[in-house]
Amino acid sequence: MTSVTSLTSAVHQRLASALSAALPENADADPLLRRSDRADFQANGILALAKKAKANPRELATQVVEHVVTGDVIRSVEVSGPGFLNIMVTDRAIMENLAARAADPEGRLGVPYAERPGTTVVDYAQPNVAKEMHVGHLRSAVIGDSVVKLLEFTGENVIRRHHIGDWGTQFGMLIQYLDEHPHELDHQSAEVTGEEAMSNLGRLYKAARKLFDSDEEFKTRARRRVVDLQAGDPHTMALWQKFVDESKIYFYSVFDKLDMEIRDEDIVGESGYNDMLAETCRLLEESGVAVRSEGALCVFFDDVKGPDGKPVPLIVQKSDGGYGYAATDLSAIRDRVFNLKADTLLYVVDARQSLHFKMVFETARRAGWLNDDVTAYQLAFGTVLGEDGKPFKTREGETVRLVDLLDEAIERASAVVREKAQDLSEEEIAERGAQVGIGAVKYADLSTSANRDYKFDLDQMVSLNGDTSVYLQYAYARIQSILRKAGEARPAAHPDLDLTEAERALGLHVDAFAETVREAAAEYAPHKLAGYLYQLATLYTSFYDKCPVLKAETPEQVENRLFLCDITARTLHQGMALLGIRTPERL
Ligand code: ARG
Repeated sequence: MTSVTSLTSAVHQRLASALSAALPENADADPLLRRSDRADFQANGILALAKKAKANPRELATQVVEHVVTGDVIRSVEVSGPGFLNIMVTDRAIMENLAARAADPEGRLGVPYAERPGTTVVDYAQPNVAKEMHVGHLRSAVIGDSVVKLLEFTGENVIRRHHIGDWGTQFGMLIQYLDEHPHELDHQSAEVTGEEAMSNLGRLYKAARKLFDSDEEFKTRARRRVVDLQAGDPHTMALWQKFVDESKIYFYSVFDKLDMEIRDEDIVGESGYNDMLAETCRLLEESGVAVRSEGALCVFFDDVKGPDGKPVPLIVQKSDGGYGYAATDLSAIRDRVFNLKADTLLYVVDARQSLHFKMVFETARRAGWLNDDVTAYQLAFGTVLGEDGKPFKTREGETVRLVDLLDEAIERASAVVREKAQDLSEEEIAERGAQVGIGAVKYADLSTSANRDYKFDLDQMVSLNGDTSVYLQYAYARIQSILRKAGEARPAAHPDLDLTEAERALGLHVDAFAETVREAAAEYAPHKLAGYLYQLATLYTSFYDKCPVLKAETPEQVENRLFLCDITARTLHQGMALLGIRTPERL
């Protein structure tokens, strides 16, 4: 457990004790501390307390001020407005706190572990077998990866689940075709690239589709295959497995390009819940949660109706006996709750599937699989838009291939890196180009709140100015270059020194890393961390403009400023890592 506290928590503690001294009957009252433009911190909690105690808020605030211990951490505290407290901290407290944080052997930069960590299953990065990945899959992967990292950093036990689409009637057609053209997925060499794998699958898909649409007998054979697949016929399963394996070659190549670690054991696709489907339906039917309607097994909801006013049910089993997406997701819930012992289920899935999840979660609650202690939440993300503000499509109106987008981002970023490069080799330019390009795509996705749509604008994404990952990466690289140039001088905190305005602002913001990470993790909100990091880079830039580092007046001041540079860099690095973005040492 980390013992390094943040300045915020130290101030909080002092304010809370002053509050309870002034109002003993409200011993655990929250001072409601927040950062403020007018002072280092502002406490707003007194207003509500005064109301409760029927006291005058300014008078109560004045009493609280009398009980605040000042001198070491708090420099001054003043009543302002209707009964707020404006709090300034000492320069010494800022530097001492940062020094303790820098010395923490665990390197957590003051971020506390969650008080009561639990087990969260995160369902993200779930492409579909035999299909191209598109920008929607990008969002799920990027947001999910960051949320997983944030949760793990706060000590949560995270289980990853990649619920890939590897099951369904469309496989009947594919398998039948492959059975009739057995050499289609044979490889000339052992090494197949992701591109090749996907182009093999695409070719096969087109050919099978053509036959299916034109040849009635093939269609009949393909339909029979679906039955064989559902019955688990070994030969059919072996052919199906070939599609899954070929697709995984492709998926892994894309995740690799995305600089994202996806593990095979975490890929549990729709097929993984096959054995549970019949039982899921039986349990729902026996408990009366689901009822037969026109032969299908359905769950009804008062508030879900079609345009004609008729209720639209969640269909758990079709009238022909087949199971669909809903039965699979309900079975996955049972698996995650009862076998994996999760207390939180998180789904990073497109907002356009929100109705599906609303109905699935409600069904699971009625069945008693979810309750107040075991909850499910869809972290629903918005649509990626093209420059015209419409869902992102190619000029021909087709879905944009994710790989093409990533390649273009890397290309543009490499051009930016090359232009700025002073002493980089071609190899280094390629490596940095990839780190900058992929970082740009991830950051653009993570810097607005997930539920909002955003425009995919590569020019803006790789721009050096503004709220982009490149700007943050440059800030980091610039600090590293200063640290390299420092020679003999080492970063060291000197809490005795007075700080300039720019130093104070930077130091205070570095301190806020702890609460930002905690909040971003608790709210599944990576964009809060992104916003924090952008602010950090901005404050660093103005510190750097105003305060000479290596040419500061005294050796102590050089060391102290180097220390501020170093802790800023470490915070940037850790924060970016939690977003899944690299911070190259040189750019
Ligand atoms: N494969 C689906 C798609 O591409 C997403 C799966 C989401 N997860 C789930 N448990 N349903 O849209």
